[in-house]
Amino acid sequence: MCGIVGYIGNQKASPILINGLIRLEYRGYDSAGISTIENNELSLMKDKGRVKNLYNIEGIDNLVGTIGIAHTRWATHGKPAKENSHPHMDNSKTFSVVHNGIIENYNELRKFLTDNGYTFYSQTDTEVIPNLVHYYYHKDNHTDELKFLRAVKNACSNLKGSYAIEIICKDYPNNMIVTRKDSPLVIGKGEEENYISSDIPAILSFTRNFYLLDDFDLAVLTRDAVSFYDKDLNAIPKNTEMIEWNASSAEKDGYEDFMLKEIYEQPTAIRETIGAKFNETTKCEFDELQYTKDYLASLNKIYIVACGTAMYAGLVGKNAIEKLCKIPCEVDVASEFRYRNPLVDEKTLCIFISQSGETADTIAALKLCKEKGAKTLAISNVIGSSITREADDSIYTHAGPEIAVASTKAYTSQVMLITILAIYFAEKLEMDSNTINLLKKDIMELPKKLEETLKLSESIQEFSKKCYQEKDIFFLGRGIDETVAREGSLKLKEISYIHSESYPAGELKHGPIALIENDITVVSIMTDCNLVEKTVSNIQEVITRGAKTLVITNQNVDENMFDMVIKIPDTNPFISPILSIVPLQLFAYYISKEKGLDVDKPRNLAKSVTVE
Ligand code: M6R
Repeated sequence: MCGIVGYIGNQKASPILINGLIRLEYRGYDSAGISTIENNELSLMKDKGRVKNLYNIEGIDNLVGTIGIAHTRWATHGKPAKENSHPHMDNSKTFSVVHNGIIENYNELRKFLTDNGYTFYSQTDTEVIPNLVHYYYHKDNHTDELKFLRAVKNACSNLKGSYAIEIICKDYPNNMIVTRKDSPLVIGKGEEENYISSDIPAILSFTRNFYLLDDFDLAVLTRDAVSFYDKDLNAIPKNTEMIEWNASSAEKDGYEDFMLKEIYEQPTAIRETIGAKFNETTKCEFDELQYTKDYLASLNKIYIVACGTAMYAGLVGKNAIEKLCKIPCEVDVASEFRYRNPLVDEKTLCIFISQSGETADTIAALKLCKEKGAKTLAISNVIGSSITREADDSIYTHAGPEIAVASTKAYTSQVMLITILAIYFAEKLEMDSNTINLLKKDIMELPKKLEETLKLSESIQEFSKKCYQEKDIFFLGRGIDETVAREGSLKLKEISYIHSESYPAGELKHGPIALIENDITVVSIMTDCNLVEKTVSNIQEVITRGAKTLVITNQNVDENMFDMVIKIPDTNPFISPILSIVPLQLFAYYISKEKGLDVDKPRNLAKSVTVE
């Protein structure tokens, strides 16, 4: 949460910073600000509200500085307000700082600084940082080139919690210092200019060469160079990584919203994620993995740990792992898993799924499993993200940048990748090759079937017009369809603000049916031929009580029974969620549009949740 941008070069910094913030708004959007160096003095312009409000600040067009930092906020400490917006300065206005993360010991530091004569003007945890830097800077009697860096290093050694920080100093108008711990930050290398961003997509239009920082690394940026230091200020070498995403993948490309674009990108995302991992005649291989039959046979359990949509993708993965590999698999929400002393040891393989690779709880759960001796495997969409740097092994979805807060193409790509992973395990373990070969064939046909599914959008839009004003919508399914019901319900609530619940269809009679009343909408997913009749009976029960029904199915059902039936292409049950979720993504999208909401940036939510 929170987005940070930085620029040092020969161009006017402010338009580059604001443009970067706009692209990062999906990380937080309750206030924004920038600070530049203008004739050896720091400028500071910030306000509550969206980034575009910055254009209304008097004098912002007059900033000519070619070095600057910027921030878009998702409030944690201190309500959204001008005084709590970043950047924050120290009392002497020598340093300007933006920060993403949480300083857990800020009360203690604030007291220390107050006792030393410093005054605080905001309720944020961040404001201790510039003042602490000033404290060490002031105490340092040397005047060498590294004085600024030493002050930042000393200040950071007192910080507990998580941070990605950018700092500029009026005494060093040609330097910017950045550092991070458990919060994302990348450095983009240009020609006689360098960029900082929380995420790669925000600066893809400027560069595709990135430096990735490890926890506690410090970087000093000038226009021409970037120097790296460890936490003891030893110089460390670093090379850039070339990112394969192109700039247009982070643009709307004529779509009204990123979410819609990303829904329509799913056939490509799935094709790219399948890549060259197998074909009709070859076994599945991951270049990044070297798991042996003996290792896999020694496992007593696989854990899949993630948050939100990524966790729902994990539930689909559990089905494939248990059925294809015959290894027990548990799925857990990272924020619960890490606090319940999970039974994990060297005979457990722990898989962590995270689109961004920066979700704080998922990373913490991974660290816990490593401490307990388990092997860890990360599944992420972002090369070099924190989770992939922590895990023993990493594999990637190739969905391209996902900008909309509501995850769509990342989910289907995660389901795809974990299913292929299950095939890889099953082949190593020499499991039933008929089932596996059939599944591989069906996977190859999936992108085409996704294209067909997307053609159903008109009917879904039509149905969404009938229920966008509702207060509650229910999602039902059995077996694998129940996991899709959960994801469909999450999608709807996050972007339409309609209260929604998902239930295993068979659970209805054990309580939730009491909520069914005339005209309420019930969405059901029925793709399992063994369970369809049972689910139809449950839907009959809600129809009797007056519900409107939307059915997503690849089975032959009596269409007259329901208000709308969306007939999706038939496929292998292991991968049916990749098709059946698409109408539900579109359903949530069109409802949100009908309500006139901001689809890409729903209230209170941020794209990557880098605080616990
Ligand atoms: O980046 P991650 O995959 O770790 O994010 C996990 C969740 O925060 C994310 O899936 C969230 O639930 C989405 N907003 C759902 O659309």
